[in-house]
Amino acid sequence: MNPPSFYLQLVNPEHPVLWRPSENQLCAFHPGFPHILLEACAARSLAALLEELDAFGEIVPVSGYRPRAMQQEIWDDTVQKQGLDYARQYVAIPGCSEHETGLAIDLAANRPEIDFICPEFPWDGIYGRFRRMAPEYGWILRYPAGKEAITRISSEPWHFRYVGTPHARILSEQGLVLEEYLAGDPGLPLWNGPRPAAGRRS
Ligand code: DAL
Ligand code: ZN
Repeated sequence: MNPPSFYLQLVNPEHPVLWRPSENQLCAFHPGFPHILLEACAARSLAALLEELDAFGEIVPVSGYRPRAMQQEIWDDTVQKQGLDYARQYVAIPGCSEHETGLAIDLAANRPEIDFICPEFPWDGIYGRFRRMAPEYGWILRYPAGKEAITRISSEPWHFRYVGTPHARILSEQGLVLEEYLAGDPGLPLWNGPRPAAGRRS
């Protein structure tokens, strides 16, 4: 069982991942994508949202949980192939990626060519409906355009983060990114403060 604040943990260059899911806390959100893992609540919620939209087949997952070593490989590969500036825009530095928590998913339109780093996830049609309904299911668009100075990541229309409800709805209604939301209310149960007790980390 995860502590409630687990889902609100802030992960960015100043706040490395403090909690990594153990294997038994991860699961596939759909049997058709057995290698895309998410934290169990996030997985259930994403499955329910896609089910509600009848979107299986049109919306496909590109990347879910990544162990730190995988994030390092992605970082190194992107730096090598596309350069450091590009990597800094679209790949979190290893140890500071939300994908390492199992609470983030990259989604794409189901098309023949899908870019792994910057997949295409449109704004209209079923993708727009997904975006509108996502907060009710606990998901936020984590790196919106216009907030780059705060998130330190370029706009990523494909990267969604599970924070749970009602937080996702409030964030979305108020147009806040997680950094702003957590900074605005000292009463919120932050997960970016003291290190969690050892027994709670896995
Ligand atoms: N693309 C996001 C920032 C990540 O690598 O975690
Ligand atoms: Zn992502």
